[in-house]
Order: sequence, then structure tokens, then C-alpha cells
Amino acid sequence: MRVRVLGTAAGGGWPQWNCACDQCGHARAHGLTRTQDCVAVSGDGSSWYLLNASPDLRTQLLAAAELAPGPGRRETPLRGVLLTDAELDHVLGLFLLREAAKLDVYATSTVLRALDTALPVRRIADPYGQGWRWHAVDGPFELDGGLIVHPFSLGAKKPRYAEDGDGSEWVAGYRIGDVVYAPCFGEWTEALDAALVGARVALIDGTFLTPDEMPAVPGHLSVVDSLPHLARHPSVRFLYTHLNNTNPLLSASRGIPLAAEIESL
Ligand code: MLT
Ligand code: MN
Ligand code: ZN
Repeated sequence: MRVRVLGTAAGGGWPQWNCACDQCGHARAHGLTRTQDCVAVSGDGSSWYLLNASPDLRTQLLAAAELAPGPGRRETPLRGVLLTDAELDHVLGLFLLREAAKLDVYATSTVLRALDTALPVRRIADPYGQGWRWHAVDGPFELDGGLIVHPFSLGAKKPRYAEDGDGSEWVAGYRIGDVVYAPCFGEWTEALDAALVGARVALIDGTFLTPDEMPAVPGHLSVVDSLPHLARHPSVRFLYTHLNNTNPLLSASRGIPLAAEIESL
């Protein structure tokens, strides 16, 4: 299995365009950047799937040699996208994939409904491609290249734009082969523990270091509150991702493992 981290920042990226905080200033002064959370995975090195579709997708795809098109003029190794949720930083990239003739998009039925109604990306994207397929995930499934995916539920954090009544399965995590991807969760659940059993690597929610960092954005368990849980899984390599520009770990990681941009795992 191949894993390529494409982006590791939360919504807005680092630095954020309208933020003059010390940390975003530090990033500008030192030419540091992190693009928004996105990962590419492949079971065979030739069929690739994105985990979330970030608004920085074009730049991220151009930086990843594995995802370059060819040999045919419009051939691409990109087969599909697995969405963990319907947040804008995870779905806006779907618009940037509209040139794809075919694409398999996987998400919970709640997320798919939101992408049909409050943010009608399905209706908008479908006339551009010729065969996008939208799959509701409710159990294990297999990807081209042989990877087996086990989705698991991670809560009901609804995007601000979404409407009540769309459903409750707003956030999912994925166990794909021996990798766990869970960039958004508000609490550490038994489902998360179960997904981690036997895993090699886990990319987990590192939005905030502390719970008081940005109280207006709930739904992300802070790093100080998730760290104690890691000890129960000593053989898993944990990497924090989806780092918000407020997270002081961006400037000084204090020994806490952060996912790196364009890292192969
Ligand atoms: C989140 O992760 O909480 C959202 O992406 C926030 C946002 O809309 O930027
Ligand atoms: Mn986000
Ligand atoms: Zn900032």
C-alpha cells in the first residue's frame, strides 16, 4: 500500500489569507506553508484515491508525481475520492476535479444528501464529467488496486452551511489496509479504538492543541485531550493532521508527531 500526504492544514491553510496572528506572520516571514488536509492512497501504485478533496487540490496534484496523468492524453491514475465529512475544506476540491471523465466518490448518506441539497456539488459536477458515481458508505468496500476500506462513524458535527434534518452521520473515519484516517472527531470513541487495532499508521485530528484555542469551532478533540489515548496503541505510528493556523505546534511541535506535507508513509 502507498500513502502520500498531500496537505496537513485545517480549513484556511497556514498561513491563512486574512490572518495576521503571530503564527501566520511567522509562516509568511519564513516562507512556510501548509495546504489543506488531503491524502492519496493506492493499493497497487497505479490506481489512486484521494482522502478528502481539498481546495488546494490543483497545487497538491501537481506536486505529487504519482498522480501525474498519462500515458494516454487524458489518462489519470486518480480513480476516486473518499470523503470523511462535508466540510468545505474537504469537499471544495470536487469542483476542481470536474475535468475527470470518471470518478467514484464515497461518503456517508448524510454527506451525500448535503452534496445534493445545501451544497449541490453533485448536480453541478455531473454535467462536466461523463460518469461520476456517488456511493453511500455503510460497510466495507474494495477499491481498484485491491485496498479494502472499513468506514466507521465519528460523530454528528454538521457543516455550518448544512441544513437540519439532512441526517446524523456527518463524520466518518476510514481504515484502509493498515492505515487509519480520522482528521475530524470531537471525542475518542470505541469505534476509533477498534479501527486502530493492528494498524500501522494513523492520521488523526490535530486541529487544536488545547480545547480553548478557538471555542467558536467545536467538534475537534484537542491534541492534549487525545494524546493520553495513544498509549493504548503502542504499535501504531500516530501523526496529527488537519492543523489549524492557531495551533502552536505548527511553530514548535514539542515532540508531538505532526504529519508532513508531501510525505510518503
Ligand atoms: C472544521 O474542520 O471544523 C471546518 O472545516 C471549519 C471550516 O469550515 O473551515
Ligand atoms: Mn476542517
Ligand atoms: Zn493565524
